[in-house]
Amino acid sequence: MNLSKIGVIGAGTMGNGIAQVSAAAGLEVVMVDVSQAALDRGLAAIGGSLDRLVKKQKLSADDQAVVRSRIRGSTQYRDLAAAGLVIEAATENPEVKRGIMRQADEIMRPEAILATNTSSISITALAAATTRAERVVGMHFFNPVPVMGLVELIRGLLTSEETHARAAQFIAQIGKTAISVRNFPGFAVNRILCPMINEAIFALQEGVAAAADIDEAIKLGCNHPIGPLALADLIGLDTLLSIMEVFQRDYGDPKYRPAPLLREMVAAGLLGRKSGQGFFRYT
Ligand SMILES: NC(=O)c1ccc[n+]([C@@H]2O[C@H](COP(=O)([O-])OP(=O)(O)OC[C@H]3O[C@@H](n4cnc5c(N)ncnc54)[C@H](O)[C@@H]3O)[C@@H](O)[C@H]2O)c1
Repeated sequence: MNLSKIGVIGAGTMGNGIAQVSAAAGLEVVMVDVSQAALDRGLAAIGGSLDRLVKKQKLSADDQAVVRSRIRGSTQYRDLAAAGLVIEAATENPEVKRGIMRQADEIMRPEAILATNTSSISITALAAATTRAERVVGMHFFNPVPVMGLVELIRGLLTSEETHARAAQFIAQIGKTAISVRNFPGFAVNRILCPMINEAIFALQEGVAAAADIDEAIKLGCNHPIGPLALADLIGLDTLLSIMEVFQRDYGDPKYRPAPLLREMVAAGLLGRKSGQGFFRYT
């Protein structure tokens, strides 16, 4: 596999982060988006992130220019043809993603690997939209990509051992740690984290303790850097609710039922940081 060149589909929050860390590891990156405006925003975000690294003296000005020169933006899928690995990080919508997988599969070299950064869609189902299911793998990065060390590496039902090994090699090459996960909803991190946050909301609803005290309990009692309710506000209460609904539906287990208070807050438009108020107020 030619791992000197990779492709990234989607120039949003995750795509531009993945492009940046890959270029910083010495790879040539082509970042493809359907929207020129999104591409411009993504390239500007990379520029801003590299500027901050220079200011913090974590990157020299010369290296900054080299990293930036390795990233090319494009609105054309055909520019993915030379890549040994393409990572899809576009909008989280099953129809959109299936279309992207199909389009990328048609253009990519037969031996190249197609990875998807989906948070909630089955890797096996996305692989089925291609003719290379054995060379499709899930690569679930965390936000912000340049800062977070973990990548969940997910095998679809037909993902080959060789694909898994090559994907693990790439993750090591960009300086991240991979854990291997089977293709279950929420993979490992969200499967554990989201029900924990949901339980904190049940505890608040039942009057176990006040919101600030629940967060203080988990910060000081469990050494977490942030409390579960503040984390819910950061993730967005609407996003959290839709994740819990997927768990409840796909596992068919009532233990995943969203807390009624979570539903009510979403209905009221209290979505967390993005709306200015969730469990806490933001100015
Ligand atoms: N944001 C997070 O915290 C996070 C964390 C882990 C995984 N993810 C996953 O990463 C993916 C991207 O999330 P994001 O937050 O970066 O989204 P985003 O909305 O910031 O960016 C998505 C980008 O995809 C582009 N796009 C849409 N359709 C496209 C197409 N057909 N071809 C090419 N580009 C297309 C959009 O123009 C947009 O620029 C999703 O699957 C999401 O579930 C997100």
